[in-house]
Amino acid sequence: MQRLEILARQLTAGSATNDRTPLLASRDVYDSMHRKSVEDPEGFWGELALGYHWQNKFPARGHMSYNTDVGRGKIDVQFFCGGTTNIAYNCLDRWVAAGRGDDPCVLWEGNDENERRTVTYRQMLEDVCRLSNWLTSRGVKKGDSVTIYLPMVAELPAAMLACARIGAVHSVVFAGFSAEALAQRIVDCQGKVVLTASGVMRGAKAVPLKAIVDDAAKLAAKGGQPVTSVLCLEVPSALRAANTPWDASRDVWWGDAIPIQPPTCPPVWLEAEDRSFLLYTSGSTGKPKGVVHSVGGYMVGVGESCRYLYDMRPGDVVFTTADCGWITGHSYLAYGPLLCGCTVVILGGIPTHPDGGRCWRMVERYKVRQFYTAPTLLRSLLQLGDAWPRQSDLSSLRILASAGEPMNEHAWHWFHEMIGGSRCPVVDTWWQTETGNGMITPLPATWFQAKAGAAGVPFFGVLPVILDPATGKELPGNAPAEGVLALRGVWPAMARTLYGDHERWEQVYFAPYKGYYFTGDGARRDEDGHYWITGRVDDVINVSGHRIGTAEVESSLTEHADCAEAAVIGVDHALKGQAIYAFVTLRGVDHQNDAMRKTLMDHVRKSIGPFAVPDTIHWAPALPKTRSGKIMRRVLRKIASGQEKELGDVSTLAEPGVVEMLIKLRGK
Ligand code: PRX
Repeated sequence: MQRLEILARQLTAGSATNDRTPLLASRDVYDSMHRKSVEDPEGFWGELALGYHWQNKFPARGHMSYNTDVGRGKIDVQFFCGGTTNIAYNCLDRWVAAGRGDDPCVLWEGNDENERRTVTYRQMLEDVCRLSNWLTSRGVKKGDSVTIYLPMVAELPAAMLACARIGAVHSVVFAGFSAEALAQRIVDCQGKVVLTASGVMRGAKAVPLKAIVDDAAKLAAKGGQPVTSVLCLEVPSALRAANTPWDASRDVWWGDAIPIQPPTCPPVWLEAEDRSFLLYTSGSTGKPKGVVHSVGGYMVGVGESCRYLYDMRPGDVVFTTADCGWITGHSYLAYGPLLCGCTVVILGGIPTHPDGGRCWRMVERYKVRQFYTAPTLLRSLLQLGDAWPRQSDLSSLRILASAGEPMNEHAWHWFHEMIGGSRCPVVDTWWQTETGNGMITPLPATWFQAKAGAAGVPFFGVLPVILDPATGKELPGNAPAEGVLALRGVWPAMARTLYGDHERWEQVYFAPYKGYYFTGDGARRDEDGHYWITGRVDDVINVSGHRIGTAEVESSLTEHADCAEAAVIGVDHALKGQAIYAFVTLRGVDHQNDAMRKTLMDHVRKSIGPFAVPDTIHWAPALPKTRSGKIMRRVLRKIASGQEKELGDVSTLAEPGVVEMLIKLRGK
């Protein structure tokens, strides 16, 4: 692949109505590109990276190195060394310089459907520069962490890009997390500056975000991390400035501070391996992990995955329903589509508000070409009936994408047939916060035979392997197999470490199976080489596409004075995929009642956030444990789902009577 060819392809404008040659025109093209990507990753990614602006070019050879074997020393991955770049420059300046300054960059709609805003590429660049200048005026410099706790307003991607422009490391915290969870993240990343809003409307409910930030700042100060500056956007529909709690020594209004800043700001040229952002995610132990991404590798990996997996080209209108508080919002709402010069549609409210037609009206209104969502939302839209999508013209759609949790066959067919008119590929990609971009995926081409519910085939640079969980040995070649999903080799957008804890990065991801990246998921490979994700094999559950560590919910429950012990598991749920089910042992049994349930649920809401509240609390005067004191979750899963006839081997139970007692207490 020649450089000019790459650039020519990248500048080919897309349009919402014309069809065009797919980048992966045939199975042979995919096979040969995939082969090259794994045999010569340095050469392969080096060529693709030339489609981006580098202030200093990295050398064609010698820019990449890696070690993924804990036995050989420090885990380390490097791409594009010697190159300097800036992701915000590549997302914005590049397109403005190419004469696309008046093209829409963001098309935003609020909770109220009549509240609409268009931000052009030029306006976005100016907004970002003003914000960068403000951050600099507050003493923020390259490498400093900045916490962003904003709802889905156009200012949220602007804030991310403003940090990226000056090399500050953003940590976007989903604006559904509680004050305690926010404080924990502020302390961990040592962030002094927080960007937030007065509040947000979620359906008919106003959530006072600034008050949550104030509480978090108090807790963070106690935890040793004072917050010195808070920039607050007034969202009058949720909470007016006059009613917003305020600390004049620390807080400034966005509307006062930002418009007076100069609209230009030179980008800081960053080393490819500098940190670009942190994103906290859950693992199988209590404390959330600050996943660290790189500047150059993340940019190239995410940008190229947008082009090859979702066929994004300049001018395409992309509607991603994810929140920027999660990785999908980072990679496929903010950074990726802008790296490709697309127009991004943002919905600032609940996607089913005011009714089940909202998303489809937006598809029609903006002539959306790529619609990226998660199975949970699809399942709830599907439940609202076919009449809603039928009312809108969905003919602009070309690619339907999804990620984050398994898609059941019924939802897949509805998506493909009802929404995509059977003409749009369903690209249901498997990936993770840590992988940065899509990893195992159906390909967006007519020749690709996608299977409903399967994750598909590996993206460039990805070498999935199925390991035997008992022996840790690779199950051979391309033959059908089922076991633990691991990845061999490295890819540019993979995370580089966990913030402040490289040892945990090595222990969690590289120590379990030497030489491999351990995904935490199980998978099956079929006779055509397609991968099917079978779910987490660790203590992580996936509720509505949100990753929650069972240990996080357990430690929140046991923080409560009345809770002696808790064991949390995931159970199947028709809409959410999985629901949280908690077995709780109280100190004393006289208050095993609904009032106590509510107290514990409120406690979890306060310490983590509403999405982590257990659906069920099952009283457990004792928990089933092995003689060595390990809770037998397998047994709990069977009891919770009423499958007590299939308990399996319980000979290691310390007290066999516990099981009988728990079965009796189900539903009580
Ligand atoms: O269990 C897998 C599931 O979501 C986990 C990653 O969650 P998170 O880091 O929040 O990243 C979400 C961005 C995609 C995975 O370990 N998962 C992700 N995609 C799929 C999936 N399960 C089934 N099918 C998928 N397409």
